[in-house]
Amino acid sequence: MSNVLNGDDLDLIFRCARTHNVWLDQPVEDALLQQVYDLAKMGPTSANMCPMRIVFVKSREAKEKLKPALDAGNVDKTMKAPVTAIIGMDIRFYDKLPKLFPHADAKSWFKDLPENALEYIALRNCSLQGAYFMLAARALGLDCGPMSGFDNAKVDEAFFAGTTIKSNFLCNLGHGYPSKLYPRSPRLGFEEACKVV
Ligand SMILES: Cc1cc2nc3c(=O)[nH]c(=O)nc-3n(C[C@H](O)[C@H](O)[C@H](O)COP(=O)(O)O)c2cc1C
Repeated sequence: MSNVLNGDDLDLIFRCARTHNVWLDQPVEDALLQQVYDLAKMGPTSANMCPMRIVFVKSREAKEKLKPALDAGNVDKTMKAPVTAIIGMDIRFYDKLPKLFPHADAKSWFKDLPENALEYIALRNCSLQGAYFMLAARALGLDCGPMSGFDNAKVDEAFFAGTTIKSNFLCNLGHGYPSKLYPRSPRLGFEEACKVV
């Protein structure tokens, strides 16, 4: 068995994977959302802190709750997407470290840090997990539409009130219309973005 993905797999996850804005009227089962999470959760985070928390907004009622927080350009596609994942982060991620990093007292490394330091750490690791999440979704045949154009405070109030979770970004999920895609924008070449020293 080869231990590298084949070309079709790489196309699915990277080369042909696009950010979608127009969605087919095709539902996404909850079981598939669970499979996506169960892959994404395996990606690494510092001290295995796993700060990402997700709310899958699926019902009409929940979509209506999300709507007032969205930037105008993100309303229509989000209301029509089969699912919108709110990728959130628990600023008190350290409470779970006795379970997640049992071989050391990792909770003591973080619990007395100021809020802005905790948020910085949570944001870094949650954003990584959000990226693992999108790759997992694509690997399981879903299309993604990530968005940061929304009012975080409104989303936090509507979905995370009374918790220590804050929203990071949103990600529409479903099956996109390939014919409605904009032309792919260029990426930086290796020489522009990287150096080997
Ligand atoms: C964190 C993040 C935030 C984004 N925010 C928005 C947004 O608010 N609205 C939008 O239409 N697209 C948004 N995008 C989509 C990007 O513009 C898109 O992913 C990028 O241009 C690459 O497109 P491609 O995947 O089709 O190549 C966002 C993407 C990411 C990863």
